[in-house]
Amino acid sequence: MPFQTIIEPFRIKTVEPIRFTTRAERAAALQAAHHNLFLLRAEDVIIDLLTDSGTGAMSAAQWGGMMQGDESYAGARSYFRFEAAVRDLTGYRHIIPTHQGRAAERILFSSACARGQVVPNNTHFDTTRANLEALGVAAVDLRCAEATQPSLLAPFKGNIDPAALDRCLADHRGRVPFAMITVTNNSGGGQPVSLANLREASAVCRKHGVPLLLDCCRFAENAWFIKQREPGQAHRTPFEIARDMFACADGCTMSAKKDGLVNIGGFLALNDDELAARCRNQLILTEGFPTYGGLAGYDLEALAIGLKEVLDEDYLRYRIRSVEYLGEKLTAAGVPIVQPTGGHAIYIDAKAMLPHIPQSQYPAWALSLVLYLEGGVRSVEIGSVMFGRQPDGSEKPAPMELVRLAFPRRVYTQSHVDYLAEVLLHVNGLKPRIRGVKIIQAPELLRHFTARLAPVDGSLLAG
Ligand code: F0G
Repeated sequence: MPFQTIIEPFRIKTVEPIRFTTRAERAAALQAAHHNLFLLRAEDVIIDLLTDSGTGAMSAAQWGGMMQGDESYAGARSYFRFEAAVRDLTGYRHIIPTHQGRAAERILFSSACARGQVVPNNTHFDTTRANLEALGVAAVDLRCAEATQPSLLAPFKGNIDPAALDRCLADHRGRVPFAMITVTNNSGGGQPVSLANLREASAVCRKHGVPLLLDCCRFAENAWFIKQREPGQAHRTPFEIARDMFACADGCTMSAKKDGLVNIGGFLALNDDELAARCRNQLILTEGFPTYGGLAGYDLEALAIGLKEVLDEDYLRYRIRSVEYLGEKLTAAGVPIVQPTGGHAIYIDAKAMLPHIPQSQYPAWALSLVLYLEGGVRSVEIGSVMFGRQPDGSEKPAPMELVRLAFPRRVYTQSHVDYLAEVLLHVNGLKPRIRGVKIIQAPELLRHFTARLAPVDGSLLAG
């Protein structure tokens, strides 16, 4: 195209109204939700950036495909379509459907891991870490050095540290069932992992005889960044690059609610025959027969189509550009964000933005509450409420205090993003008045989902 503006590469055929709320209504909603945005009613939210998971809009082709769903209990046609799409993309031998990513994780981990073992990853996502820790397995994060400096511009801040991986596999010889790499690295800012890094990690794992698995929820976004940023990759298609990414590993866990472009679904794919057989038995126990795995036939149809649509270059260009567009507006206004902008989300660096709030008073959580109060925007804290509680019950500050604004796929338009920028800039102006929060009540595992909190000073904003 000869023009500069990157437009949404779709027209909107079905619309869902947004209910506008007043600030007073949102203040009341926050009280009722115990200052936890997960406990809000979604209809009280104007722009919902809680997650990009399962919140996307499906295409006309996907809705049409769903009518073709074969709902047979065993051997459904829809399973074979889904299996072909996943195998074509990943090249893996065994394709096991699950209802979402964490089901793939639980099935894999309970089939492959034992108490006292260690699993390294660039950064484990919260459910990945929790599923390992629930089995008594240590989840070790080995992010590259650039990853912990939010303002540093580097092309592949999602990379794993290959030297640290080598040391980890040597130190825990015989106790590492597999290593993982998360693409893109969600908890580390939605940052991509380079092909070179995947290849290096793959070689380290091979040297130690340890399988490597990808947590590949956002494989297409990662492939796009490789195309844009890695030398020698610009002329290749996202599909070709994705194939190469998968070829570095021996299997993957997938939440198809992200780059599968579906509202529910996931899979586990493996080359190891014996491990796959154990996983299938686990699947039958809790999810369903191996040709549906807790999904409907129509879900498998939508997923088979989504996996192809997500690799479309016009789609990926628009997707990554929308995030970058908001990032540019925030950076110009001096709002500290993780740089460069990642694939599915903007991550505000709350530690840098609110230096007057100590980590023990959860600055990122407080900021996310103020964004909702002022503009009806729902985000998610990725900081010390999410990651601060240690398996032994002690409290340790998270390495970063981030507020993630995750973009649902194909849902919001540029004017929604302009509104967001306006809200964020307004909140930036309130910075000195924002106060911290405390936890009133929380469960032991994954506490951020259900914890009850309150402002330390009785109010989120001083004065
Ligand atoms: N791995 C990563 C990297 C994820 O981001 C998620 C989910 C999962 C695994 C688990 O998948 O939700 O289908 O069970 N992330 C969502 C998020 C929830 O908001 O980032 P799931």
